[in-house]
Amino acid sequence: MPKSSFDTKRIIVALDYPDAAQARLLLAQLDPAQCRVKIGKELFTRSGPSFVEEVIALGFDVFLDMKYHDIPNTVAKAVLAAAELGVWMVNVHASGGSEMMQAAAEAVRSAKHQPLLIAVTVLTSMSAQDLAEIGLQASPQEQVQRLAALAKRSGMDGVVCSAQEVSALSENLGSDFVLVTPGIRPEGDSADDQKRIVTPSAALQAGSHYLVIGRPITKDANPREKLNTIFQKIHGDFGDLC
Ligand code: C5P
Repeated sequence: MPKSSFDTKRIIVALDYPDAAQARLLLAQLDPAQCRVKIGKELFTRSGPSFVEEVIALGFDVFLDMKYHDIPNTVAKAVLAAAELGVWMVNVHASGGSEMMQAAAEAVRSAKHQPLLIAVTVLTSMSAQDLAEIGLQASPQEQVQRLAALAKRSGMDGVVCSAQEVSALSENLGSDFVLVTPGIRPEGDSADDQKRIVTPSAALQAGSHYLVIGRPITKDANPREKLNTIFQKIHGDFGDLC
């Protein structure tokens, strides 16, 4: 495989735990120089902003995965609050529309600390049938392309998408539009409930900028060792990394 610009901080470990105590056990095994972490709705709802600040104080870059979707004013204020917490990345739903995304982008620009602002296109849990049910006749792929283009025009830094959509998106939207991909599974790992899985190396090869990895690391008996194995495999595939 060709050498890529991969650096080890392109892995985002999803802290999908019901409470801070369990998340702290994993954090103690992770190195903020090696990876970033993602805090989602469950952990944030239970442990709140003070836990986010605690994780940042440990030296981790935090992706606050709140997927905001509301009227423009409310989303802008929420995104500003996230920026003021000091998170590295925060996201909104592209289906909230251009006015909502522009308001969010403006709020980030007004903040002292400016996180990357990312839009969720179509949830990977949604099929064509699910889209039809909410009145959308497009295929998930068409809808992803439409929303990603709208997100770019509305000032977003990038989108969350499946690694299977990465090459088409970077072709259409440019290689500097940030593509964040969950649904990552090292070869041989269980897919769990993810439907369209891609290995870490294949996702990077396709052009994914950041890989969100949860259960393959969090459910392993030795998370630190598992992360190291993932790094080794990537190093093996891509050669000497920066
Ligand atoms: O455990 P697993 O690696 O499947 O975790 C993936 C993480 O990415 C979860 O936190 C999930 O909420 C998140 N995610 C996803 N699909 C999306 C957006 C976010 O799996 N479209």
